[in-house]
Amino acid sequence: MKRSVPDLMNSESPLVMVTAYDFPGGKVAEAAGVDLILVGDSLGNVVLGYDSTAPVTLADMIHHARAVRRGAPDTFLVVDLPFGTYHTGVTDAMRSAVRVIQETGADAIKMEGATPEVVEVVRVLTRNGIPVMGHVGLMPQTATAQGGLRVQGKDDESARRTLDGALALAEAGAFSVVLEAIPARLAKLITEKLPVPTIGIGAGVNCGGQVLVTHDLLGVYEGEEKKIAKRYAEVGRISREAITQYASEVRARAFPTRENSFVMKDDVLDKLY
Ligand code: KIV
Repeated sequence: MKRSVPDLMNSESPLVMVTAYDFPGGKVAEAAGVDLILVGDSLGNVVLGYDSTAPVTLADMIHHARAVRRGAPDTFLVVDLPFGTYHTGVTDAMRSAVRVIQETGADAIKMEGATPEVVEVVRVLTRNGIPVMGHVGLMPQTATAQGGLRVQGKDDESARRTLDGALALAEAGAFSVVLEAIPARLAKLITEKLPVPTIGIGAGVNCGGQVLVTHDLLGVYEGEEKKIAKRYAEVGRISREAITQYASEVRARAFPTRENSFVMKDDVLDKLY
């Protein structure tokens, strides 16, 4: 059964979130019984082949989120607002969020950052009935300004900024906050201080829940192991082996076999000669 915002906020057990980007991804996540599915703008990296999330557009997010929703009609669905779609003012942010909710059937949107401008956007959206998930720590959309894809919150200034940002987002109405790539002890402190659940990725075990990018979890890309993710399968290797075997069987005329072929009566064939 689909979780509601209050139900997620009061969850006794750690929340489980995974990313999905298409119909099969939504279907398998729902079948696995996760609490939330995130159509992350990591779409740009793991599906569209960009080297950052910055080129991902609102149209991309809507297109993919609609497919995920078709695969997962009964799971709480969160969709990332991509870079540039909530930075040009509250009205534009509201317009982007309304499009996502109306056109995809999402239950909530997520946005990165906790600048005063983003906090104001969160306040206006939530006042207008749009559930918002915040995101602090490492923020891939603005990673260049953060000095690259690196752990945040390690020094006084960065730890304070991360804590204050998470608090400000919760105060503005965010129903949960993603903590990405911050030290586990800082994540624990933020989790204890926040009135809403935190969802960690690379933030230790003491968060209110965990999120992983499904392609990392499934090992879709061979060889690439990230510290913040655990690989639960080797889908990339298995897929490559399957396609390699198919290719060699085609070349050896070992596929298709009789079982994969259709038959017809001899007399029908005879008339064609
Ligand atoms: O885009 C994404 O997949 C995310 C998760 C890493 C939280 O924001």
